[in-house]
Amino acid sequence: MNRKCAKPFLKWAGGKTQLIPEIKNSLPNSVVNKRFTYIEPFVGSGAVLFWMLGEFPRMEKAVINDINEDLINTYKTIRSSPKELISILDMLQKEYHVLDSDDDRKKEYYCQKRDLFNRRKQEQTVHSALFIFLNRTCFNGLYRVNRKNEFNVPTGSYKKPTICDRQNLLAVSEALQNVELLCGDFEQTADYANSNAFFYFDPPYKPLSETSSFNSYSKDEFNDKEQIRLKVFCDRLDSLGHSWLLSNSDNDFFDRLYSNCKMSRVLATRMINCKSNGRGKLTEILVKNYKTKQSQQVINF
Ligand SMILES: C[S@@+](CC[C@H](N)C(=O)[O-])C[C@H]1O[C@@H](n2cnc3c(N)ncnc32)[C@H](O)[C@@H]1O
Repeated sequence: MNRKCAKPFLKWAGGKTQLIPEIKNSLPNSVVNKRFTYIEPFVGSGAVLFWMLGEFPRMEKAVINDINEDLINTYKTIRSSPKELISILDMLQKEYHVLDSDDDRKKEYYCQKRDLFNRRKQEQTVHSALFIFLNRTCFNGLYRVNRKNEFNVPTGSYKKPTICDRQNLLAVSEALQNVELLCGDFEQTADYANSNAFFYFDPPYKPLSETSSFNSYSKDEFNDKEQIRLKVFCDRLDSLGHSWLLSNSDNDFFDRLYSNCKMSRVLATRMINCKSNGRGKLTEILVKNYKTKQSQQVINF
């Protein structure tokens, strides 16, 4: 098994798998055939991280961060105790699958596990297994918590979802062995940048309207003030000589905010939206602080 096989172990709002071809075309020259540090301050399910780890074996170091403590603790559990985690997930999967098409019993089982998760009294491996279980069985793989940090997404309607993907969890565990895992605000990642660092930012998207989109990954909202704070941080990295690439929703607000940077537009399908008829192809932006061959064009994929 090698780290090329690892892929995201969660469904995550704004997961970037579909943007990888475009990200590949937008990488700075400083990462191609050179040793570099890869830093992803808003890692979520890590679609770009796992691709980068497989694509660039010469990467010197990877540093990932997210404000979501349950998420980062789950990365830590997978890295340190994959086999224990797999045996708990395997049990949860058997118990859930046996309920088959009895929707009432599945809902009851789901709610029991959600209560257990929210009590936060289990040891870490069990807590991480519950986190993955809820992600695989809840509505649309959403992660939403209330002000008390209680997970409150209702059950999903999957018949037999994969809860324990043994092979991938082992591959992820191996891929994470030399990855620095940080939990907290994105600004702390600046301390981990060396002379050839490349940052990829995928912050919570600015919603297209008040009700159209989802960006509530934690009890703290990522509002316009936060988007501006991120731009100030990007300017700081720029002045320190680091390369960065950032994705976000296509909005005039960002045209103004990043007017001194290179911006391109890409077409992507939004997977999570409050209304099912709100799904579809939308343009998103890629912004960077370095020159590559492509800029100012719409890529269709
Ligand atoms: C759009 S998602 C990233 C999705 C990721 N690219 C993927 O492929 O799954 C944004 C992430 O930012 C995290 N986040 C929100 N506010 C943050 C902050 N202030 N600092 C660091 N991470 C934050 C959220 O928990 C969420 O996982």
